[in-house]
Amino acid sequence: MIDAQSALAAPLVTRREDYQPPDWLVPDIALDFDLDPSSTRVTAILDVTRSSAHERPLRLDGDGQVPRKVLVDGVPHNDWRMDGDTLEIDLPGSAHRIETEVVIHPDRNTQLMGLYASGGNLCTQCEAEGFRRITFFPDRPDVLARYVVKMTADRKRFPVLLANGDPIASGDLDDGRHWAEWRDPFPKPSYLFALVAGDLSANRATFTTMSGREVQLGIWVRESDLPKTEHALSALRIAMAWDERVYGREYDLDVFNIVAVDDFNFGAMENKGLNIFNSRYILADPDTATDLDYDAIAAVVAHEYFHNWSGNRVTCRDWFQLSLKEGFTVFRDQGFSADQGSAAVKRIEDVRTLRAAQFPEDAGPLAHPIRPDSYMEISNFYTATIYNKGAEVIRMIATILGPDGFRAGTDLYFDRYDGTAATCDDFVRCMEFGGGVDLSQFRRWYSQAGTPRVSAVLDHDAGSGRATLRLAQRTPPTPGQPDKEPFVLPLKLKLFGTAGTALGAEQLYMLDRPTAEIVFDGVTDRPVLSINRGFSAPVIIESDRSSDDLKFLSAHDDDPFARYEAMQQLMLDTLVAAVTLGRADHQPVIEAVRRTLEDAALDRAFVAEAVLLPSDAFVGDQLETVDPEAVFRAREALRRDLGKTLADLWRSAYADASRAGAFVYSPPAKAARRMRSVALGYIAASGAEDAADVAFAQFEAADNMTDRQGALTTLVNGKSDKRIAALDIFYNRYSGDALVLDKWFQTQALSSRDDTPAVVAELARHPDFSLANPNRARSLVGAFGVNQRAFHLGDGAGYRFLADHLIALDKLNPQTAAKLLPPLGRWRRFDEKRAASMKVELERILATPGLSKDLFEQASRSLNG
Ligand code: PHE
Ligand code: ZN
Repeated sequence: MIDAQSALAAPLVTRREDYQPPDWLVPDIALDFDLDPSSTRVTAILDVTRSSAHERPLRLDGDGQVPRKVLVDGVPHNDWRMDGDTLEIDLPGSAHRIETEVVIHPDRNTQLMGLYASGGNLCTQCEAEGFRRITFFPDRPDVLARYVVKMTADRKRFPVLLANGDPIASGDLDDGRHWAEWRDPFPKPSYLFALVAGDLSANRATFTTMSGREVQLGIWVRESDLPKTEHALSALRIAMAWDERVYGREYDLDVFNIVAVDDFNFGAMENKGLNIFNSRYILADPDTATDLDYDAIAAVVAHEYFHNWSGNRVTCRDWFQLSLKEGFTVFRDQGFSADQGSAAVKRIEDVRTLRAAQFPEDAGPLAHPIRPDSYMEISNFYTATIYNKGAEVIRMIATILGPDGFRAGTDLYFDRYDGTAATCDDFVRCMEFGGGVDLSQFRRWYSQAGTPRVSAVLDHDAGSGRATLRLAQRTPPTPGQPDKEPFVLPLKLKLFGTAGTALGAEQLYMLDRPTAEIVFDGVTDRPVLSINRGFSAPVIIESDRSSDDLKFLSAHDDDPFARYEAMQQLMLDTLVAAVTLGRADHQPVIEAVRRTLEDAALDRAFVAEAVLLPSDAFVGDQLETVDPEAVFRAREALRRDLGKTLADLWRSAYADASRAGAFVYSPPAKAARRMRSVALGYIAASGAEDAADVAFAQFEAADNMTDRQGALTTLVNGKSDKRIAALDIFYNRYSGDALVLDKWFQTQALSSRDDTPAVVAELARHPDFSLANPNRARSLVGAFGVNQRAFHLGDGAGYRFLADHLIALDKLNPQTAAKLLPPLGRWRRFDEKRAASMKVELERILATPGLSKDLFEQASRSLNG
């Protein structure tokens, strides 16, 4: 319950069941922008048509504006009224032309929603409900309009004027200003509108589509950043060809532009023909970007490009359907990335992300189904659940249908819903039809929140040669959903004999009831169970496999993911035992890691991931009550033991990985760099005398950011004073590069050292720190919140720090503030004293006058949910 006072002020809740089709449609809109950072005049001409026989007025969404003028069918009109932020006009007929004019102030727009200024340029962000901050319009995704956009601006300050679609005309005025007009022939919802005005240069290329259309590609950045755009441009061309080959999807306009901006609330935005990116997902060169940055750039470029079909050509009926475009598009970009390098390592990374970001969400007060039932502020639902669990749900459908059925389903979906606003259910129906399957029960994945837990117990009777696998599923309650119906869980499984050979082929078992028994006959050898291979279902497996069996699978399973998983489970069991029983046998982990390191047949990229211990946070997630210090100590002890016992292997792995020549971005070179950082981490964990010297030498000699940041991270987690020197060198070298300075802040905020809370508090006063830039805010405040050790150290100072910064950030940028709140919402997972101090901070946030609805929703759900 929320208290009486905030209940009065509580923002309105929007419910999925209340959906009504729009009263008025807008087939066409013409926009005219007289652009200036301090004051921009926006004239909009909307052709509106009544959607059915009703008599309701036209209602146009706004945000804090009153129109300067309103014309109906060309005639000034006074008979309009404001209902809150909504402009309401009674109209006699069924088709009218409405003209409005507003004046907006981009340079005062710190929320970065609507039209805003970044680095001297002007740009827009409209998803989800930012268009109403630009002009009056039915700002909902099921109103699709054809846009014509004219922009006029000072020629010197804003030589480049871009909008959606194709350019159709431009010209100079004699007062030093110029203009350009763009037209987008594809009807689109307002959230896909974009314009950019600025002093930008393009890295250009062309792409010829499968039907022979030539597309002009451009990546627009400030001129000095041009050399850093090659990787993004090449990723774009590879992604365009991939979507033709794998999904049969072709690009549809003559131009495709991407603009990089430094101030951006999310990663990037798929505006039709004019993607706008956070510059961190465009700019890369070896000296400033890590291999992970390179990979993320390719993935995000592909993701936004893929939205052209999954999102733009077929869009969402309402925001409850967000996962329709996001889950599907993440699934598509994951497939793309898997095809560019090691698919096994990509799967490992994706599952790690899911466990780090989505499982905790599903287990906490903010849990929601991938198709939520209600929201106060839709921006709060751009979550790991909508995106990453949404992608897992699509992956299960693809597994159930098989490649041909899935492709038939997506073809049908794109064909049937092209040019329309669809629902998740429309998508599932196409999958049923394309694959010839019944997904009625499967649909529970769209309506129920929570991570299912599957217990798997294998019995074997050597005498009869019969093995029986008993499965049971159960999903814990989530807010508003006390009881769960059974899910459909596609579980890939296989049995192995103790000689290391498979007992039969892998099978796909559909667990759709609360319990099931699977019988295997002719099993004479003692079987070992490999289950949820490839992470075929996004669930938690609870099995009684012994550490011997896990060790065995980590060496013999022929599914690389399952092999990784067996090792992770072994590590997890060991760490949980260490925390809960106060002691644990490290030997099985040490032997499994040794075997993996010594197995020359394994891809080094896989080895580097397999030998890493699960994170502090993931270990904490296994415990009844998280004791961050106990987790940290147990993990450090195991790391030290691994480091010491396998010292020779780490040294030789390090030496092997260091032999590479000059930097290249290729799968084997990336694998070597990853292995190098991992080995360095274990050398340091062993407590070796020379560890800091080795790290510092790597730091100084590095010809690329992966090696440099890997060494810096090791130093920043360590005791040696060399970390101070390294941090200074790093800072001085990159003080002009905002994206690299973010790494400097972030590496310190993620440090496992005791003094991290104090260091972070001091960094918040650093002249380069600012809450106004979302990347910078996330690099310090966001990173600190997910540092399980540092955030919970001491007597609640970390909680106070986070709350103070969220309250301050909320005044500037509520969306970004609300995104950083979840660590405080995890109070139920901690001891009473910590829980109480976390709640105090949530209450303090809620008591703040003028709180945004973004932060109000997150904090109140976190407190009461
Ligand atoms: N639609 C964007 C994406 O996932 C995310 C986004 C949402 C960006 C809201 C900005 C604002 O591709
Ligand atoms: Zn997306």
